[in-house]
Amino acid sequence: MTSKKLWGGRFKGKQDPIAVSFTESFSFDQKLWESDLAVLSAHVEMLSEKEILSKTVGQKMIAALNEIKADLAIGKIPLSGDHEDIHSFIEEELEKRIGQEASLIRIGRSRNDTVVTDLRLHLKNELVEIVKGHHDYLKALIDLANRFPNAVIPGYTHFRKAQPILFPFYCLAHFSAGKREHEALQFALELTDVSALGAGAVSGTSWPIDPVISAKTLGFSETFFNALDAVSDRDFLLSFYFAETLILTHLSRFCEDLILWSGEGLSYIELPDALCTGSSLMPQKKNPDPLELLRGKTARALGHLTSLFVLLKGLPMGYNRDLQEDKEPLFDAVKTLKESIYMMTKIVEGLSINSEALEKVWKEDFALATDLADELVRAGHTFGEAHDLAGQVVRYCSEKKKALRDLKMEEFRAIIPKANGHLLKTLSIEESAKRRESPGGTGHQAVAKALHAAQAWLKTP
Ligand code: ARG
Repeated sequence: MTSKKLWGGRFKGKQDPIAVSFTESFSFDQKLWESDLAVLSAHVEMLSEKEILSKTVGQKMIAALNEIKADLAIGKIPLSGDHEDIHSFIEEELEKRIGQEASLIRIGRSRNDTVVTDLRLHLKNELVEIVKGHHDYLKALIDLANRFPNAVIPGYTHFRKAQPILFPFYCLAHFSAGKREHEALQFALELTDVSALGAGAVSGTSWPIDPVISAKTLGFSETFFNALDAVSDRDFLLSFYFAETLILTHLSRFCEDLILWSGEGLSYIELPDALCTGSSLMPQKKNPDPLELLRGKTARALGHLTSLFVLLKGLPMGYNRDLQEDKEPLFDAVKTLKESIYMMTKIVEGLSINSEALEKVWKEDFALATDLADELVRAGHTFGEAHDLAGQVVRYCSEKKKALRDLKMEEFRAIIPKANGHLLKTLSIEESAKRRESPGGTGHQAVAKALHAAQAWLKTP
């Protein structure tokens, strides 16, 4: 049976089935059923309050909408059939229950303002969940830092070991980026938390409606300012995709580090078995697939952001059917972001430090060359001289295949005549990591202070 359309009077004959299936959105916008019912109920309540609809009709509609909600929730009515969209589906259900009066629900309202209000409501609820999940992730980062307070890992530049850093300092770097991610999510929430209901098709309505009443019923903090903008605007989705892309871009960098650090050759960290996968051929393999997939999901997020920009660019002001293309990426983005944050939280909760491997790292490393140069400056050299002398020491070590920490005093003195015991003492990895006490640095006190601030931030509502 073909479902009833919300339009048709001006058309001769039937719509081509190809056009029917090409234009339908019910197959995916049915996800909005709960939001659509909430929006419709808020609209009916407002119409009744403003005496545009009689109390009796209003009450009948609300009761029927509640019934539809209960039936859909338990799957009593299936979300199937060849409906044009979720809006036609629900109006048809309403008509089944209260007859012709169902169409009065269209007074002072259009699918154009309804659909964007549905989307806003849907995303607002999802964003509240996402912010919670993201908070758990940030908390897991700080817990991880506290589990390995003294581990020293290489800080890299150009993916070459640069200077030793405390592992908690590394965790705090992701926490610091996470605070900006939080801001981006909050901004998306702010732009989303606006009702468009009452904007009509494009220009408002001749009915004496009050959009503020329905906005309040729906729990929106604000009501649209201009009806034409309200039906055209999808900036709230752009801001959400920006937040999604930002978070996944950061996670992809985090994952890249963990993939490299857990791999053969480095092995600084150990990933939990439960989060890794094996190979069908090579029995020895423990592959970091979730990390690789997380890195890959960033491409998807960037796709969401770019495709909506392209969709909106050059689009005439007003509702255009192109905007129907906003939905599938949104559902995908919500799922992708929620699952990615959750996956990363599990990884952070499960990873551990391999202290033996880290100790080996420092044995044949030059990451203390900066400390050597700094110490020479303290001993009276200019920075240029100190840099050059420390460089000569590194070259000597490379040529002799020796580690910096294994050099004998005579070997030092051959390059730095004034070298003494104090100088050698500074060449310890632990000392080096401890020493960088500048604000926001990797020194123990600086890190303790930052961890304290992070804990306080996590506790603020
Ligand atoms: N399904 C449409 C969308 O998702 C909403 C309906 C508005 N249709 C219209 N022809 N004005 O955007």
